[in-house]
Amino acid sequence: MGEEKYLPLFATTRAKGRVLYRLFAVSVFIGICLICVYRVSHIPKASEDGRFGWMYLFAAELWFSFYWFLTQATRWSRVYRQTFKERLSLRYEKELPGVDIFVCTADPIIEPPMMVMNTVLSVMAYDYPPEKFSVYLSDDGGSELTYYALLEAAEFAKHWIPYCKKYRVEPRSPAAYFVSTASDAAGNNRSHYQNQAGDSTHIKKLYENMENKVESAVKLGRVSEDVRSKHKGFSRWDSYMSKRDHDTILQIVVDGRNPNGRDVEGCVLPTLVYLAREKRPQYHHNFKAGAINALIRISSSISNGKLLLNVDCDMYSNNSVAIRDALCFFMDEEQGHEIAYVQFPQNFVNFTTNELYASVRVINVELHGLDNYGGPMYIGTGCFHRRDTLCGRIFTKGCKSEMKWEDNKGEEIDVHGLEETSKSLASCIFEENTQWGKEMGLKYGCPVEDVITGLSIQCRGWKSVYCNPKRKAFLGLNSTTLLQILLQHKRWSEGNLQIMLSKYSPVWYGHGKISLGLRLGYLRFNLWAANCWATLIYSTLPSLYLLRGTSLFPQISSRWIIPFAYVIIARNIGSFVEYMWCGGTMLGWWNDQRIWFYQRITSYLFAFIDTIVHYLGYTDSAFVITAKVADEDVSERYEKEMMEFGGSSPMFTVLGTVALLNLSCFAWFVKAAITKGIAEVYETMCLQILICVVLIIINKPLYEALYQRKDKGKLPSSVAFKSMAFAGFACLCLGRRP
Ligand SMILES: *[C@@H]1O[C@H](CO)[C@@H](O)[C@H](O)[C@H]1NC(C)=O
Ligand SMILES: *[C@@H]1O[C@H](CO)[C@@H](O)[C@H](O)[C@H]1NC(C)=O
Repeated sequence: MGEEKYLPLFATTRAKGRVLYRLFAVSVFIGICLICVYRVSHIPKASEDGRFGWMYLFAAELWFSFYWFLTQATRWSRVYRQTFKERLSLRYEKELPGVDIFVCTADPIIEPPMMVMNTVLSVMAYDYPPEKFSVYLSDDGGSELTYYALLEAAEFAKHWIPYCKKYRVEPRSPAAYFVSTASDAAGNNRSHYQNQAGDSTHIKKLYENMENKVESAVKLGRVSEDVRSKHKGFSRWDSYMSKRDHDTILQIVVDGRNPNGRDVEGCVLPTLVYLAREKRPQYHHNFKAGAINALIRISSSISNGKLLLNVDCDMYSNNSVAIRDALCFFMDEEQGHEIAYVQFPQNFVNFTTNELYASVRVINVELHGLDNYGGPMYIGTGCFHRRDTLCGRIFTKGCKSEMKWEDNKGEEIDVHGLEETSKSLASCIFEENTQWGKEMGLKYGCPVEDVITGLSIQCRGWKSVYCNPKRKAFLGLNSTTLLQILLQHKRWSEGNLQIMLSKYSPVWYGHGKISLGLRLGYLRFNLWAANCWATLIYSTLPSLYLLRGTSLFPQISSRWIIPFAYVIIARNIGSFVEYMWCGGTMLGWWNDQRIWFYQRITSYLFAFIDTIVHYLGYTDSAFVITAKVADEDVSERYEKEMMEFGGSSPMFTVLGTVALLNLSCFAWFVKAAITKGIAEVYETMCLQILICVVLIIINKPLYEALYQRKDKGKLPSSVAFKSMAFAGFACLCLGRRP
């Protein structure tokens, strides 16, 4: 059988409806041009009121037009990928390469050990030859609790993995599985196997047992003496001072090459490793990027898999064959050698039906657009990398790096010796005077280390692939308060803006290295933060000028109203159709618009200011992990789709000020209009009225949280007072004609 006869392992198809979309985009473009013509040809005279507002609105419109142009890069021609896993098995089942899976956790309080263990167990149960993959847990908290949970999870895995294989259980995160069977049990029993019911009860009992032990340790805040004395491993904590000051703690918890690494049926288990890298106060630890780089080195000495997968500790695997999906790309004879990484989308469970806090739907659409121009960016979780490209290898045409399995040892190894010799790889001083964090591994010094690393890999000539099968490969927990969402977006947009200004900017660094489409696509994300000014202008000035009685838009009888109306309607219908097409609900879209607006005037604004301050050399950006567990109260309000503000923050003062400003402008305007006659005002200012009214409707939950609600999720009264003061001040200063 000649190699040319091989059928490809994956197929790429173009999105349907491209022509329609392009016609639509062109029509919007014409509308935008006409708006600019109107703005330039109708500038108010210096003596008239409104010249100032006019200029600002025009500047905002120019920005929106430019940004709209960038977003077209992500939609102009989208591609979809399909994999053929049976072909992969037929051809390469014996030669599948080694895979190392990294799970990173940082804090046992914010990221509870049971959640982390469910993620670990879900990836340990992958449908993949167990001697060929290893799971590494990096615990940046260096917590005994997490370590203890991992020991318990390793014991439980000995029952759980054979159970999964025997009954082809999905999903393989035990918690998610038991939730799904609980809802099933009431109706028909879906098991196709005899005895499953009995085994299922048994396994559930084991799981609950483990859960109880771990949770009680977590509640106690430490591991009991009784448990400590049973496991030698805890002695490693003897020299432990604090989370920020301790030696490397490395333990191979399960080793498939040794007799203890077998499950209850005698089958080999995947290797499982616990790592808490060395931390010293005088060395910067570089957050998650530092943890992953330590894992890359440690894993190279223990298992040295050719492929690396990293998942966040709150993202469990929902599809036990996802590794094979990824391998279909890497092992494809034709194109596989060009591909550096395969990115899966970030998806969340725990959505309420209407997605109160917005979703990642839109980003997931846009990555298909980037895929056509050389591949999506690396978004930090759910991504398979080639080990050598992540370590800095440059792409050379025609050079195929071998992806196949090499059986190196086979004999039993001295686990303790291996741990001792590998430990130094995770020490603080190891990276001194090396390329780690620069050209090797993940880059340091950027809040979105993943995006900048992906970009530099693409700039070295590699491609990436976006794999988004119907059944989601990874599912994470969504944040449940508005503040968490806003802070998370602040970090993302801040990091992205830093990339834009750094030496790796797609504008200059990417020139000649990646395609123009991809550069524009990156810019669309890199410039997120810069949207804040135009959005702030558009959400305040039209209302303030409404109060002044000055029109900034064409009259309703003028022909110039047509491009404005068209662009507004087309933009909204376009985003609505896209949202519904991705499976959203109508109310979900409306909520999405609200969050989109809130992010722009708070997260992006603060990110923009912080980036500038950072460049002037004042502060260092800090990494904030967002809490993924909610207390009872919060969950209840979440179910009811009530917005959870989650504390006091200057961000809320900005939101409150903008919301109250619009409300008061509108109220005063109505009062004035009644004395003047509605019809005449409406004729000259219909668009300003529309903008103001839409902003008031979209802010309804905010007014409620300021004045009406009594529960704990409402906004504190200090925010209400400050917002009122700022809004009142703005109306007094700007809302009257001089
Ligand atoms: C997760 O996996 C289950 C099968 O176990 C599937 O029914 C479900 O649709 C998947 N979830 C998503 C969001 O794809
Ligand atoms: C997520 O949903 C599961 C089941 O639907 C629930 O048990 C869990 O508490 C939820 N988590 C959060 C953070 O709301």
